[in-house]
Amino acid sequence: MAKSTTTFTCNACGASHTKWSGRCDACGEWNSITEDTPLSAGPGAKSIGSKRGNALHLTDLSTQEAEPPRTQSGLAELDRVLGGGLVPASAILVGGDPGIGKSTLLLQAAAKFAQSGLKTLYVTGEEAPAQVRMRAQRLGLGDAPVKLAAATALRDILTTMDTEKPQLVIIDSIQTMWVDTVESAPGSVSQVRAAAHELTSFAKRKGVSVILVGHVTKDGQIAGPRVVEHMVDTVLYFEGERGHQFRILRSVKNRFGPADEIGVFEMTGAGLAEVANPSALFLSGRGDPSPGSVVFAGVEGTRPVLVEMQALVAPSPHSQARRAVVGWDSARLAMVLAVLEARCGIPFTGLDVYLNVAGGLKISEPAADFAVAAALLSAREDAALPAETVIFGEISLSGALRPVGQTENRLKEAQKLGFTSAISPSGGKSPGVAGITLNQFSDLTGFVGDTFGAG
Ligand code: TYD
Ligand code: MG
Repeated sequence: MAKSTTTFTCNACGASHTKWSGRCDACGEWNSITEDTPLSAGPGAKSIGSKRGNALHLTDLSTQEAEPPRTQSGLAELDRVLGGGLVPASAILVGGDPGIGKSTLLLQAAAKFAQSGLKTLYVTGEEAPAQVRMRAQRLGLGDAPVKLAAATALRDILTTMDTEKPQLVIIDSIQTMWVDTVESAPGSVSQVRAAAHELTSFAKRKGVSVILVGHVTKDGQIAGPRVVEHMVDTVLYFEGERGHQFRILRSVKNRFGPADEIGVFEMTGAGLAEVANPSALFLSGRGDPSPGSVVFAGVEGTRPVLVEMQALVAPSPHSQARRAVVGWDSARLAMVLAVLEARCGIPFTGLDVYLNVAGGLKISEPAADFAVAAALLSAREDAALPAETVIFGEISLSGALRPVGQTENRLKEAQKLGFTSAISPSGGKSPGVAGITLNQFSDLTGFVGDTFGAG
């Protein structure tokens, strides 16, 4: 008889450990390791031994499989992120910070899917039914044919799903669900994992789509959605800055569509409103051209998005100058600063550098390098870039500018929003777009000399 093995799992990265420690070796997170009792049917429960199983039924790769029929919610931003609508029997995880608007989004989605004909069940483990009903009324969705239940016991939920036979079930949230075969508190890694496993396998078996809500949190007591990511077909993150009204729904994994697609919403008094033209919104607060501000022509998924990048460079009162970034990668900022110093001879030593992506968007594209460099130079030299100009391009460590993908898409978006010129790397295949004057440079030094004199 093997002795009962207790393992420990990191809530942040999901790594397994044999003993508890204050810091996870795998990801470096502090206080994120919790005790984990193995799933009874999980790996490692019992070795298979010599008892024979059933032979599998094998099929060919060439078997014709029809494109899955999709149901559109009518919320175009949501449908696009799902890859064109909801696929039957799919499991979707929607993660995000507490209070960002997940319940609001999913209640609106539930109502829309129900109105387009899906039998929809909304299970809340966090709120009373009256609260959800009140919110639905405030959102003008009081008449939507959504069935509502407040429950946390997963066994009851699965039984209800079996008898009611809904086509879509929304579980808000996976951290509140409780599986009675697992001996640990709701919200622990083993509970979250077991609940997600039960729900996703039920979804596959019975042809029900499930949407799981997962809170992302740094608090080690509650398991993050990371431990669930591999079990579901689609992982969406709902992000945004608390102080801003914009919310971005981003697909980071999708078995039924492109990843990295974004949907843009605006949080209003009457719920989430779709933003069909995010560039116009992100640029709406922009005044006259000013030093340190440039417009980056970015692409998120298949969609061009123009955003304002703001930089501030000021003499530092401290012995170690500050580097602060909102909406971009700080390692990438360090790289751009190093290239400016080493290749263009423009030092930022003794200067505090602040960089902000306006509107609360998070940018991860390398194409933003050039825009960041231009914003930093413009702030440092206290000289504004020409008006109505967008900028994009990747910077290599040698200081060369590399062309980026979807140039035409970026230029068309700029043209649509009234921009008249673009600064970009030379080379690349794009023919350009009518109405936009291209100003191309092969390296950063050339751009610096041309735009800011000798630097
Ligand atoms: P909620 O959907 O409860 O967030 P989550 O489920 O991610 O924790 O949204 C909470 C916030 O949204 C709350 O601070 C209030 C705001 N809100 C609005 O601004 N307008 C609305 O119509 C609704 C329903 C919520
Ligand atoms: Mg909620």
